[in-house]
Amino acid sequence: MSNLSTPILSPRTVEVPPHPQWPILNTEETARMKARIRALLDAQNAVLVAHYYTDEALQALAEESGGCVADSLEMARFGTTTAARTLIVCGVRFMGETAKILNPEKRVLMPDLRATCSLDESCPVDAFSAFCDAHPDHAVVVYANTSAAVKARADWVVTSSIALPIIKHLTTQGQKILWAPDKHLGRYIERVTGADMLLWDGACIVHEEFKSVALERVRRLHPDAAVLVHPEAPDDIVDQADVVGSTTQLIRAVAELPNSEFIVATDAGIFWKMRQFAPHKTLIPAPTAGEGATCESCAHCPWMAMNALQNLEQVLRHGDQEILIDPVIRKRAVVPIQRMLNFAQASIGR
Ligand code: 13P
Ligand code: SF4
Repeated sequence: MSNLSTPILSPRTVEVPPHPQWPILNTEETARMKARIRALLDAQNAVLVAHYYTDEALQALAEESGGCVADSLEMARFGTTTAARTLIVCGVRFMGETAKILNPEKRVLMPDLRATCSLDESCPVDAFSAFCDAHPDHAVVVYANTSAAVKARADWVVTSSIALPIIKHLTTQGQKILWAPDKHLGRYIERVTGADMLLWDGACIVHEEFKSVALERVRRLHPDAAVLVHPEAPDDIVDQADVVGSTTQLIRAVAELPNSEFIVATDAGIFWKMRQFAPHKTLIPAPTAGEGATCESCAHCPWMAMNALQNLEQVLRHGDQEILIDPVIRKRAVVPIQRMLNFAQASIGR
């Protein structure tokens, strides 16, 4: 039964930066910058590991240069399979930390180490450890969107791709779950699996902005559209979904469902990949603000937006913005992450 923990640090206290304003490059400038970055990648035996929410020029370059564009689970796995000595993680900090934890012998750089995540920020390790200490009879399951130190306290790490099968597995074993930090994803899992879960009070500032009444109105205007929702969205958005899933699962839905229109409730960065798979389908962003209201992120993560071709070139030139992890924390954090990867390989084949 859901039992939301006392808010220790409300997600609303997380300082949300304005979207960075990158200089606009024309086609020739973009092509020249991409060529310089490719040469630097080759010279340094480096690959790009990018998330679907990053800038589309970055996603395209990651693909063209032999890197990957993926969800958090696949990003973690890709780093362990590539022969490259340097991983340039284009995404947010927890993704870079996961790459370093799994590949301590590799150099892991990010375009901007300040790229954090409201979920990670809402879950400081000391308060989280106290929560765990207060519930020693619970299996500790944390979402990948957490710091290395929080992962080091966990029995399992999960991403949105694999959260349901792992919680079902634990529930079958009769385990009670302590879950952090995303309360919306936690509630969704709890509703689907019937698991006995204690929830941390964290949220994604991007997915919390979707508005249910406005979404109902858009659905009435597009009655044949399928509604695709990432499970970081609140209940009243998830309840209107035809498909709830990770970024990869939502992209797959656009490619595979017969509908020609889709209403998409997740970060707008995902449209680039959706259009690649289904160029003739119509993608409609789910509304993020009621009439007269404003939005903070407007369906684009301000931290994901800190990744651009410009600072990617700079980090390759200067080698700064390197992810480093305390070896003691790494040794503990790798266990629940590896457990997730092994489970995913055995259950969904990736
Ligand atoms: P995915 O693992 O589904 O890509 O989600 C990561 C994330 O941060 C979504 O906000
Ligand atoms: Fe974190 Fe939300 Fe940004 Fe994903 S979209 S990185 S959950 S703040």
